[in-house]
Amino acid sequence: MSDSKQAREAGGETGLLPTTSHQILRPFYPLSKPSKGGDLTRVDGRSGQAAGQLIYLSGRVLDRTGAPARNAKIEIWQANSHGRYTHPNDDNPAPLDPCFEGFAVVETDSDGAYRLKTIKPGAYPAGPGRIRPSHIHFEVFGKRERFVTQMYFAGDPHHEQDPWLQSSIKQETIVMPIIGPVAGMEPEAGRVNFDIVLMNG
Ligand SMILES: [Fe+2]
Repeated sequence: MSDSKQAREAGGETGLLPTTSHQILRPFYPLSKPSKGGDLTRVDGRSGQAAGQLIYLSGRVLDRTGAPARNAKIEIWQANSHGRYTHPNDDNPAPLDPCFEGFAVVETDSDGAYRLKTIKPGAYPAGPGRIRPSHIHFEVFGKRERFVTQMYFAGDPHHEQDPWLQSSIKQETIVMPIIGPVAGMEPEAGRVNFDIVLMNG
C-alpha cells in the first residue's frame, strides 16, 4: 500500500488527515538567523556542544490527502536547555548557552521528510505564576500555505496550565513523545517524530 493511501485510510471517514493544530508565532521569533543547517547543537567557530538532552527530531510535511509537501522550507526556533531564548526581548534571567543559538532552517525532501538535531528546550516563565512547557516553534512554508505551530513533549507537568497549548482542540497533533535511545547515536539521545499536516500543502 502506498504511503498516501495508508495516510488517507488513517484519516477516517473523510479520507483526509487531521490538520496539525495552529499555534501563535510570538514573542521570540528570531531577529537574526545565523544557522542554516539542521544541527542546532553546534555553533560555527565554537568547539563545544549545546547543553541538554539531545533530540533527533524528524517527520514529514503532508497535505490532508497524505501527499508529501516537497521542498517546503521549515524554520524552527526554541529556548536553550535553561529556558532562555537567544533574543533581546527575552528577560528570563536563565543563562544563555554559548553553544546554542536556537534557530535552524531546513527543507523537506522529495518524500516531504525533514530532519533536525537539537536539544530539549527548558520550560520558562511567562508571567506571574505561569510556566510555559518545553516546546519548539515551527514555521512551514508550503507551496500554498504558510503555517505556524509549536511542538510540545508528552508528559510535561506544565501542559495543563499552559493557555497556548490548552487553546488547541487537537493537542494530539502537537504533543509528541520522546522515543529513545536512538540506535547508533549518543546513548542519552532521544528521538521525536513530528509530522505536520497542512490544510492545502
Ligand atoms: Fe516559545
